Amino acid sequence: MTTRLMTPAERVLEVLLTRRSVSPRRLQAPGPNADELEGMVQAGMRAPDHGGLHPWRVIEFPQRERAALAHCFQAEKLRRDPLATPTDLQRAAEHATRAPTLLGFVVSPRPHTKVPLREQWLGAGAALGNVLAAAHQLGYGACVLSGERCFDAILARELGLGPNEYLAGFISIGTIREAPPPAREWLSHTVWSRWPGPAAGSRQAPGSAHPVVGPDLG
Ligand SMILES: Cc1cc2nc3c(=O)[nH]c(=O)nc-3n(C[C@H](O)[C@H](O)[C@H](O)COP(=O)(O)O)c2cc1C
Repeated sequence: MTTRLMTPAERVLEVLLTRRSVSPRRLQAPGPNADELEGMVQAGMRAPDHGGLHPWRVIEFPQRERAALAHCFQAEKLRRDPLATPTDLQRAAEHATRAPTLLGFVVSPRPHTKVPLREQWLGAGAALGNVLAAAHQLGYGACVLSGERCFDAILARELGLGPNEYLAGFISIGTIREAPPPAREWLSHTVWSRWPGPAAGSRQAPGSAHPVVGPDLG
């Protein structure tokens, strides 16, 4: 049996089709080096971005500051749950210390531009996706996790966020120690419909246009 070699286009698509989130528990050192990290950030900056605003940024948490970050996470946990157990606090600290490389992903919408805020949020999300895809392309495992701490105003200030910034989550990146479980297969027809023309649209209740027509159904 002969195996057909993938075309360059198929190889590029495969990077996107095989990306999986790899939980920090499945990661180990080393994380990416400075050049690789730069590549990931550059990939984020290549995401579609109305107005070239880059309404996002990343904060790297170097190893030497992880103990301090763990302390901030524990303090946040205690603010939220004064009855937190030592196990809860240990878990909070591990979110700061476990990943070989840890980035905060911050959405920084620019309110005084003509670009609607929702497009800025979409642009930031696209950038986040590119950062994760670039990590995968470079052979690393990565995962973004938020959790309730991302909504804590005191923690946000401690991390240096401004009043119009939002902590979207923390990106863990590292060498894959244990492969993640297989991805759930989604069928594109759940998100892909084909517009049947305006007459059909006017017969539908707003918001009820559930995508149903896929390539093999239409
Ligand atoms: C901004 C953001 C925050 C997230 N926060 C969490 C989280 O706190 N907990 C969680 O289980 N998954 C969270 N996820 C989802 C995971 O990162 C991951 O995408 C999901 O488990 C699906 O896995 P997959 O990326 O391999 O498809 C978050 C995703 C995004 C985009």
